Amino acid sequence: MNAPDPVLIVGGGIAGLSAALGVAPTPVLVLSRAQGVKGAASAMAQGGIAAAIGEGDHPADHARDTCVAGSHHNDLAMVDILTQSAVDAVHWLEQQGVVFDRDAEGRLQLGREGGHDRSRIVHAGGDATGAKVMQALVAAARSAPHIQRRADVDVDGLVLRDGRVCGVCLLEADGTRSVVHGRAVILATGGIGGLFAQTSNPADADGSGLALAIQAGAAARDLEFVQFHPTALAIPGVHSLPLVTEALRGAGARLLDEVGNSLMDGVHPLADLAPRDVVARRVWRACREGGAWLDAHMLGASFPKQFPTVFQACMARGIDPRVQPIPVTPAAHFHMGGVATDAEGRTSLPGLYAVGEVACNGVHGANRLASNSLLEGVVCGRRLGQLLRDMPPAEAAESHYQVLRRKPSLDAASLLHLRDLMMQTMGPVRSGAAMHAALADCAAMDGWQGTLAQMMLQAAIARQQSLGAHYRVD
Ligand code: SIN
Repeated sequence: MNAPDPVLIVGGGIAGLSAALGVAPTPVLVLSRAQGVKGAASAMAQGGIAAAIGEGDHPADHARDTCVAGSHHNDLAMVDILTQSAVDAVHWLEQQGVVFDRDAEGRLQLGREGGHDRSRIVHAGGDATGAKVMQALVAAARSAPHIQRRADVDVDGLVLRDGRVCGVCLLEADGTRSVVHGRAVILATGGIGGLFAQTSNPADADGSGLALAIQAGAAARDLEFVQFHPTALAIPGVHSLPLVTEALRGAGARLLDEVGNSLMDGVHPLADLAPRDVVARRVWRACREGGAWLDAHMLGASFPKQFPTVFQACMARGIDPRVQPIPVTPAAHFHMGGVATDAEGRTSLPGLYAVGEVACNGVHGANRLASNSLLEGVVCGRRLGQLLRDMPPAEAAESHYQVLRRKPSLDAASLLHLRDLMMQTMGPVRSGAAMHAALADCAAMDGWQGTLAQMMLQAAIARQQSLGAHYRVD
């Protein structure tokens, strides 16, 4: 007798693994392009997990900050779900083996980041929260009998029967193609940072899952809203850049121009802790006028212990951040838009679900609040897993399968050109004329990345007023 069709999960980051663990005991097959934690943006996350866990804090306060950051474009029901589930998410992660940082008295250490009205961010291993969380979830998934994993495969198509998604097409590195059937398909493929010349995401976070869903006819929403992190480590010619976490500015680090003047004084009352889009635009301008640096010398000897990931990234490039300013640049960081879903993760296509950054349930509005993304992955991943736990295996049917494959990829030179085009025209500062010119350029490209870029450009052109991370000079 054949094993029953599993739930198929495309992507092995925090959202995919939280869903995989939540669906137990229903069988799951997790498909990813890379082994273990490699390739998952979650593992690179340096911020932590926001939760109203401190004394006197309340989910309603966390919700208010989430909506202010999102320019009130947020789905309020979703914001309530996220902020009210946050403390439970932290406890669940502890049960999976994550050890959050505590003070000498054993209390959780709470950090502060831009947009939060107080310290409310839990961290693990200082700035290594994403890596620590992913290590624990990968270990939990390895020991869970209902979870199978297959790495080094690209999912480049969806299989439908009678209008319902019931499987995926796999493409292996050696070109071998196959089809896997499942009772449901969850996309947890992350964001689109890889489509930009500078990103804090791994290059694999290139919108491939979003493109797949759109090609199969699933609705997408809010594609114009892309968050740029103001401080990635500036390394000329490098595409996927190490992040220089905002928590450094929470701890007192300051942004400077080439002659050592403050970049943020007088720009916003919160100065270096102004909303991320405000800081990103200022750093973007400074980078065109001579450069931008983050001065964190005041952290002194505590730097390596508090921020081990940033410390190592700087030292590896010959910069000692205890005594030298860190060169920084804005980088594409998070996509608030994506495959449209309801609060549970259902897309407009029966049988297809989406969770994490690839999905858009409206929780982040027009700009995501710091440290709400790992949180979303855990909260929404677990909710979706629980929804699909009782889903019966697909029944055998006589009708024919329909295979909807993504278009082929762009060639390497065109992809480089597209990334530059996206950075210049869909970056922190946008104008209608530049976006129209880029649209014509993308229309002449053959690969799926060109089609996705066109849709993002169209959404950004259609939104004529600045909102959140979408800032138009015209
Ligand atoms: C950071 O550590 O600066 C990023 C945190 C986030 O994106 O939430």
